[in-house]
Amino acid sequence: MVLTIIIALVGVLIGLLVYLSHRSMVRPANFPPGPLGIPILGSLHLLKEYPERDMLKLAKKYGNIFSLKTAAKNYVCVCGTDLNKEVLYHKDVINRPDLYAFLIVKRNDSKGITARRYSNELILNREFMHSVLTDVQKVDFNIDEIVEKEITSLMDKFENMFESCEPEYVSDVILALIIDTFLSIYFGHKTDKTIEEKYKRDELIQNLLSLRAAFEDVYYKIPDLIPGIHKVWLPNSAKKFISAGEGIFKYCTDQLEDHKNSWDPEKPRDMVDLYLNKMNEEKELQDPVFTKVNFQHLLFDILLGGFENSAHTLGFAVLYLAAHPSVQSRLHKEIIQVLGPNGKVQCDDITRMDFTNATACEIFRFASTAAVGVTRETIKDVTIRGYSIPKGTTFMFNQWSSNTQDDRWKNPKHFDPENFLDENGKFVSNNALMPFGGGLRSCIGASLPKRQLFVFLVKLIQKFHIKPETDDTKVDCEPIGGFIHSPKPQKLRLQLREIDY
Ligand code: HEM
Repeated sequence: MVLTIIIALVGVLIGLLVYLSHRSMVRPANFPPGPLGIPILGSLHLLKEYPERDMLKLAKKYGNIFSLKTAAKNYVCVCGTDLNKEVLYHKDVINRPDLYAFLIVKRNDSKGITARRYSNELILNREFMHSVLTDVQKVDFNIDEIVEKEITSLMDKFENMFESCEPEYVSDVILALIIDTFLSIYFGHKTDKTIEEKYKRDELIQNLLSLRAAFEDVYYKIPDLIPGIHKVWLPNSAKKFISAGEGIFKYCTDQLEDHKNSWDPEKPRDMVDLYLNKMNEEKELQDPVFTKVNFQHLLFDILLGGFENSAHTLGFAVLYLAAHPSVQSRLHKEIIQVLGPNGKVQCDDITRMDFTNATACEIFRFASTAAVGVTRETIKDVTIRGYSIPKGTTFMFNQWSSNTQDDRWKNPKHFDPENFLDENGKFVSNNALMPFGGGLRSCIGASLPKRQLFVFLVKLIQKFHIKPETDDTKVDCEPIGGFIHSPKPQKLRLQLREIDY
């Protein structure tokens, strides 16, 4: 009897292994080519610490469109400006693939934006966020003022930090700036917080950092590679992700409840008030979109989607400036010319400041923080470049390959604002620049980091010379790899400028 059970179990195990091996290696008919991979594991693991570089190596062998596999999914990777655009703007490549950890946090009920299927509800959420972040006329709070105020307070912090002229790390205070800006826009967060508010804010930051740590853990990805395994086993990092996600949900619900007590539909103070207006508009509807659960999911998406990319972009900016004193000099010259000594900066000034505009775009290009974008899934069978790609296939976008493509840039491999300047020193945009994806699922937050980076550059250069740790230290501008590229931690010196103009 025991022997029969053992034989049956071994049989089931062998059957399962054969099934997983088959799924992890066999491609659909007329699918883009790709490496064979290893039975069960497939070939996705070939993308390592710098997935964008590994993708480019594979593209040299298989072409700019090629495929990778796991037992759970078929992946198609695209490299180069033309292919990235063709697929990002394809009308049938508009879903996001399921990520088990998101599904678990969101209890299989993907509302909000990022994990949502393309639908009318998604469009309404995207339109809402878009109007919160860009429609400054309609709202009672002004995002540009918030951005300006938070960056001014960061400059004051820098002044204190560098008073003794000792080199320091700047990434933590930059991260705090990003979170405080988000909290001001979303929840109307005040600088004069009570102890309880401070505690809750710190807890929120800890939860966001735990989410980030979970993403970087190798085991975290296993349940996305082996179908169904999350039903019986979860890595510890996934458990941490879930508990941090729940903490964020709670923070958001508390904010919504608090706001209800003092909400005036005529005078929205922040995003939560605007959301309450939407809930109010829909109160007679049987199936409203702007519900409390949707609010939790939406806030989760915009907190998680934005904070790391935004903070790392500013972190890279400081490093690039430290490594390129000549860029600092040109920025300073333009700032003095256009804004005057101690001139106040507004986001719209960017149109009058060609070199600063070019430097900001060059930072987005060279940093390429979202080097491989965010995955998408096909909603139907599609044909791309003659290949048949079935419904449910996951696409990966090598945005970095477009940002560094030899024939698209004057100086693709180096940090050089000339990439965005014509021969007369006028700003020229370049449609190969690809930090924020494109098409119907492009980044809804893009306008915020653009404005932040511009104001940050102006204020930083107005006040400081940015220098490496010592005069002999070489600044290391190489990113730390991963799903999102981050700057390597290193000490810098920020020296107050003499009022020499
Ligand atoms: C430098 C900063 C940022 C970078 C580089 C970045 C990059 C991206 C990229 C590449 C995508 C995928 C787009 C696509 O599939 O076409 C995306 C999506 C998204 N981003 Fe950003 N992002 C940044 C800041 C933000 C901010 C500040 C927010 C929130 C206010 C945000 C919220 C989102 C959301 C919600 C999505 C999902 C959109 C959808 O699925 O429809 N991002 N972002």
